[in-house]
Amino acid sequence: MSDLDSIVGQAREQFAAIGDAAQLEEAKARFLGKSGQVTELLKGLAKLPVEERKARGEAINRVKNAIEAALADRREALADARMQQKLAAEALDVTLPGRSAQRGGLHPVMRTQRRVEQIFRSIGFDIAEGPEIETDWFNFTALNSPENHPARSMQDTFYVDARDSAGKQLLLRTHTSPMQVRYASLHAAKHRGHETMAPIKVIAPGRTYRVDSDATHSPMFHQVEGLWIDEDISFADLKGVFLNFMRAFFEDDNIVARFRPSYFPFTEPSAEIDIAFSSGPMKGRWLEVSGSGQVHPNVVRNFGLDPERHIGFAFGSGLERLTMLRYGIGDLRLFYEGDLRFLRQFN
Ligand code: DAH
Repeated sequence: MSDLDSIVGQAREQFAAIGDAAQLEEAKARFLGKSGQVTELLKGLAKLPVEERKARGEAINRVKNAIEAALADRREALADARMQQKLAAEALDVTLPGRSAQRGGLHPVMRTQRRVEQIFRSIGFDIAEGPEIETDWFNFTALNSPENHPARSMQDTFYVDARDSAGKQLLLRTHTSPMQVRYASLHAAKHRGHETMAPIKVIAPGRTYRVDSDATHSPMFHQVEGLWIDEDISFADLKGVFLNFMRAFFEDDNIVARFRPSYFPFTEPSAEIDIAFSSGPMKGRWLEVSGSGQVHPNVVRNFGLDPERHIGFAFGSGLERLTMLRYGIGDLRLFYEGDLRFLRQFN
């Protein structure tokens, strides 16, 4: 029977050498196919004497079963190997840290702006935004700075290659004060013909521009303008509102303020507002934080209101300055360099 044993051996050997399912099926045919070795052996049974046939037939069947078992084993081994390969190729390392989306953050000056808006909204002020490209009228003339007025040269600006309806060149606003006139004149127009007018209470934060650039000046910077006009608004109200603003902004109820006489064309009298902290690294030093004053009668007239009846105050503060004081930042230029090591500290 050694011929039969050797067939099983051959089959196992051949199957073991095959690494692919299609080739394995071809190998199977060589043994079990229509003219495969085992099939030929079975055909040979017919030529045997009857008494030998049974034993020989059983022996051939055992061979056939053994080959089929070897084939099944090999098929399984190949399928396993294929699965392992697939798993390896599609492996997912769940221990890798995820790729998180980079989150943006608010610029520190924008944080200050939002904070200022929140403080003034809480005491009933409206928030207004206006154009950065402004006319000569709103930026200067309506604010009581006629052409050739020397105060204009303190605010040299960038001009735009376009003119307004009066033929004057458009410019980048040098302060947020033009918003006083834009907002108040709309407000006054809405109330025209009425017996009384609701008070004008507004702040206007935003970008402003000047031809200026050094450690404490940037050609683009931010201001917030404040305006409160009614029939009896006084410097006492300005002091109350501004002190509340400073104390809320810096979260320090011990801040004190003083008004230093100054000059602005659009206020009379005018004052610089200084504040001082009663503790911390800047304790006791007077720090200038805002221009202010009682709105000049000529400006009230440009609002479309009667200065004999309507009176109030305005102020304008630099948002960069407030931000620097709040966080102890020494150089204005840090705000505009876009250095993430600086910016990340605020988020
Ligand atoms: N517009 C002034 C500036 O940019 C600041 C200012 C001063 C605004 C006095 C005011 C004010 O509203 O009353 O220098």
